[in-house]
Amino acid sequence: MSKGGININTEIPGPKSKEWTKRREKSVPRGAFNATPIYAESGEGALMNDTDGNRYIDFAAGIGVLNVGYSHPKVVEAVKAQADKMMHPCFAVLQYESYIELAEKLSEKVAGDYDKKTLFLNSGAEAVENAVKIARSYSRKPAVIAFENAFHGRTLLTMSMTAKVNPYKQHFGPFAPEVYRLPYPYCYRCPFGLTYGSCKIRCLEYIEESFATHIPPEDVACLVIETVVGEGGFIIPPKEFLPGLKKICEKYNILFVADEIQCGYGRTGKMFAYEHFDIVPDMVTSAKSIAAGMPLSAVTGKADVMDTTVIGGLGGTYSGNPVAIEAGLAVLDVMEEENLLEKANEMGEYLMKRFKDMQKKYPVIGDVRGLGAMVAIELVSDPESKKPGTEETKKVMKYCYEKGLILVKAGMYDNIVRLLPPLVTTKEQQEAAMDIIEDSLKTL
Ligand SMILES: Cc1ncc(COP(=O)(O)O)c(C=O)c1O
Repeated sequence: MSKGGININTEIPGPKSKEWTKRREKSVPRGAFNATPIYAESGEGALMNDTDGNRYIDFAAGIGVLNVGYSHPKVVEAVKAQADKMMHPCFAVLQYESYIELAEKLSEKVAGDYDKKTLFLNSGAEAVENAVKIARSYSRKPAVIAFENAFHGRTLLTMSMTAKVNPYKQHFGPFAPEVYRLPYPYCYRCPFGLTYGSCKIRCLEYIEESFATHIPPEDVACLVIETVVGEGGFIIPPKEFLPGLKKICEKYNILFVADEIQCGYGRTGKMFAYEHFDIVPDMVTSAKSIAAGMPLSAVTGKADVMDTTVIGGLGGTYSGNPVAIEAGLAVLDVMEEENLLEKANEMGEYLMKRFKDMQKKYPVIGDVRGLGAMVAIELVSDPESKKPGTEETKKVMKYCYEKGLILVKAGMYDNIVRLLPPLVTTKEQQEAAMDIIEDSLKTL
């Protein structure tokens, strides 16, 4: 067995995985992408065992779903106990205590010195859709502002709000109307070609201008923004941007919706990433790590906003399923008992340090970005022109999974290696993972 618990015994993919791929190709549409050719069988903490008996460190963690790790015993116990008692009465027909309990807890955790309410749904996309429905119902205004580099989901509205064509929007139009897109402050590739420090936060100024060129502010129900961009490249806005945006929202009565589906729930070392920027959103969407892999998402917001829809206007057959809710309650306990926010910060410091050291040695690393344990490197073929290192990123991913580390990429040009490690990853596993990434860079 090698460092960190990794154990690779076959070529990757192994023979069984290859056989399953043949069957998969006959039975599952090709549009359902797979980042690796590997078939997972079981997992524990940050480790995943494949169907061929190989063991890997998983820094994709279900794309940010497994902050408490694979099959955390406390979550598993809660899920089993609930499944034994009752699978699903449907909250729209019969209520249950746990739904209220988790709603109370989330409403308390989201910032705001006023009453809040929480609605549960199944997926991240559904949470974003519902936040927009609520904002429209509250304001009686049609328009939604979304940003460049955004990913909000794959349903018609959230796909329309998403900013990447291939693969998310290609040939899937027509798109939902009344979505207006503005630049996100991606300082490494400034949309205005400026430099942070002397740019006077041009992205903010531009928003006021867009009210003359794109959409009058009195028609805008809400803006939806990823506090830290996930899929679009782990982009952290400069400290002035979100507070400035919030002020603009207040000036024009536009609801501020923070999409915390990827960056929330401890990922950045705080419960929600917006806490780094000293803002209070009107609504917050959560999903992914909220229930450690059970399908659950949430919208939390000001009670008077959340209450404006007609009765029956919100919900869904499976929304807030009691098994998922029990997993959600267990996740909050684990986060507290195991100090996961502290662990996210410690791990983030280590990962950033390793990447900064690597950047000095490997010019292919154009940029290193991170907040807590949400850390990425942006690869470039040429550091001067910043030509995206799309091929290099592909090679890094492949090298890493063959050596026992699972990663996912991000960014408009698929040139960003993003780390979403379980917050329970041990120090030895962190070191093993970073050694493999460094080895992969040596091969480029
Ligand atoms: C920021 C953000 N919003 C929304 C979504 C959509 O979530 P789901 O895939 O659960 O619909 C994602 C998923 O990656 C996301 O990262």
